[in-house]
Amino acid sequence: MKIQVDDREFVLMLEYEQIKKRIRLTGIQIDVDFENKTPVFVGVLNGSFMFLADLMKEVNIASEVTFIRVSSYEGDTSTGTVKQVIGLEKELKGRHVIIVEDIVDTGITLEFLIHELRKQEPASICAACLLLKPQSLTKEIEELSYIAFEIPDDFVIGYGLDYNGLGRNLKHIYRAGRVPSET
Ligand code: IMP
Repeated sequence: MKIQVDDREFVLMLEYEQIKKRIRLTGIQIDVDFENKTPVFVGVLNGSFMFLADLMKEVNIASEVTFIRVSSYEGDTSTGTVKQVIGLEKELKGRHVIIVEDIVDTGITLEFLIHELRKQEPASICAACLLLKPQSLTKEIEELSYIAFEIPDDFVIGYGLDYNGLGRNLKHIYRAGRVPSET
């Protein structure tokens, strides 16, 4: 199935039913790993909102949720683009933290987040992502404990992920169609 979003064509890659099945398994794993630990899920906005909502519905142990954003701004020429965590309202000291990301591409964002959240001295910190692009990954992130799907190095949208702000509402996940010059 093909769809058009803004100026690009996308093709169906993962159906919602498949996504739900994988998330159910991730929820079971988290129930086992965090029994009696009351973890705090830290959703990374905007992209994680659908994944986080479905994941938390599959988690049955006591747990809490909070949200953050990562903003980027241009630093001086020596530092390049600088990232910043904004919106963290919850005290994480001594807590078991599960960062929830939509997609890990190079891994730079997740590595940065883990580094920043560690400053709050949580009891433990790990991450759950819906999608991982292993071919793009430039960092080894041992805290990435839960990965729903590994996908090829394609640009994807839907189920929270966007292209130029569009496509987050799509129920399924779609990958960008090849442009003729790429074939
Ligand atoms: P990383 O720092 O390279 O791992 O990139 C992580 C962020 O890039 C994600 O949280 C997304 O916001 C964005 N991103 C990376 N790949 C895609 C994609 O295929 N579709 C939509 N957003 C993406």
